[in-house]
Parts: sequence; structure tokens; C-alpha cells
Amino acid sequence: MLIAHLTDLHVRPAGMPAYRVVEVNTMLARALATLRALDPAPDALILSGDLTDCGLVAEYELLRRMLEPLAMPVYLIPGNHDRRGALREVFGDWPTFGDDPEFIDFAADVGPLRLIGVDSVVPGRGHGALCARRLDRLRSALAAASGRPTLVALHHPPFACGIEHMDGIRLLDGAEDLARIIADNPQVERVLCGHHHRPIQTRWAGTLAQIAPSVAHQVEFRLDPGAEGMLVLEPPAFLVHAWIEGTGVVTHQVYVERHDGPYPFTLDPDYPGGT
Ligand SMILES: [Fe+2]
Ligand SMILES: [Fe+2]
Repeated sequence: MLIAHLTDLHVRPAGMPAYRVVEVNTMLARALATLRALDPAPDALILSGDLTDCGLVAEYELLRRMLEPLAMPVYLIPGNHDRRGALREVFGDWPTFGDDPEFIDFAADVGPLRLIGVDSVVPGRGHGALCARRLDRLRSALAAASGRPTLVALHHPPFACGIEHMDGIRLLDGAEDLARIIADNPQVERVLCGHHHRPIQTRWAGTLAQIAPSVAHQVEFRLDPGAEGMLVLEPPAFLVHAWIEGTGVVTHQVYVERHDGPYPFTLDPDYPGGT
């Protein structure tokens, strides 16, 4: 049982880069090719927001064409770069698309796992928020299968990570309420986020909160206060959450690009560990 988790695709209209330097559409095509080559194939795919760069219908149409060949169900939530109206216009009849008239979220059981997506978008703003209704929807989705190990996804991380300019646009409203809900539901194995374009983990609300790297550009690693936010083209990657009997949820980071190797572990004669 494998759940792939890609985030921050930032798709642009065909032929256009993002920020003038990031060939986001090519990078997504390569990420999807890597995903499709995985054996065994993941049983489902979560996309945790910033599906497009500007929330344009043309961007969502291109994204849909790129996702349609995938064999596994694809669950998606929006990020601050998305626009709910255009996303709904293009993906409204997508098989896993949520049925709420306002928010774009999901709840589904896949194998032994429950997958829940939460819409943390504040239209027109970079930061995230969870209002009472969205928190209620999360409570209900958790209560509907309280015995199932669960992955909760939302775009905006609810915790500070030390990258100051990103902390300023994290989940700013509703994070304490979210923490209480998560802490009350020990079946939550992960809180999965995007937005920060880096792999970051922390213990949070009694579970593991995990930010996936982007399949496009990354955010520069800068922990010095006042650092200007810059993008870097570090290796794009995504996460695969595996259900391992006897252990539980185990998360692997998978790089999109191929690197040198594989090489055999030809042991040096000086190796002290025997054969
Ligand atoms: Fe993003
Ligand atoms: Fe974002």
C-alpha cells in the first residue's frame, strides 16, 4: 500500500516558465514519468496545493491533461497560487473531486488508510487559515473512520520552521484548533503539507508533521533572520508514504531525476562486517 504525495506543481500555460526561470511544466512531466515508473505502483496520489502558478483555467486544463493518463486515483487540494473557481471549472467532474460548494477538500479510504485533504486557502492572500466550518468538516471526516490510520493533508504548514519569510505565510489562523483536533485523534499518522518547497519535518500535536519538497523549484535554505525569500533549482522530489505491516506508515523521499548508479555493493576486503 503506497500513497504518493506530490506538491507545489505551479503549472503554467503551455510553453511558459514560472518566475522566468523555472520550466515547471517540463518538471511536472518528469515527476509524473518517475511516478509512473515506480514498481509497485502507488495506490493513490495526493496533490497538496499550488497545483498551478496563477490559478488560470488554461493552467488547470494542462494539468488535467497531464494527470489523466495516471492509473491511480488523484486527490487534490488547493494552495495560495490556486483559484477555487477556475479549479472547480476544470476539475469539477474529476472522479475524486469533493462535493462541498465552497471548499475543495476530500476524505477517502484507500486500503487500510484514510486520506483527508483540508482546504487552507485564504483567497488573495499567501498565508493559510482554517475557519470553523473547515475545522468541523475535518472533525467529521476523522470521526467517520476513527479506527483507521490517517494522513491529513493541507497546503499551509501549521508550525514555524525557522525560514522567516515562509513562517510569515504559514497557517496563521486556526492552527491551535487544528492542533487540538489532531491531538484528539491519535489515528492521525501524518499531517502532510506543501507550500515551503523544502523537505521539513517536526513532531506536532502528537504526530509527525511533514512538508514535502516541490516537484518544481525549491526555496533556498536560509535560517538567518531577515533573509530574502529566493528560489533555487535544487533536485525536485516527492514523497511516498508506505503502509508497512508491523511498523505503520513509513515515508520515503523519491528524487525525480536519475543520478549515477545503481552500482553493486562490492565489498572492500577491509570491511569489518563479514559477508
Ligand atoms: Fe508553492
Ligand atoms: Fe504555497
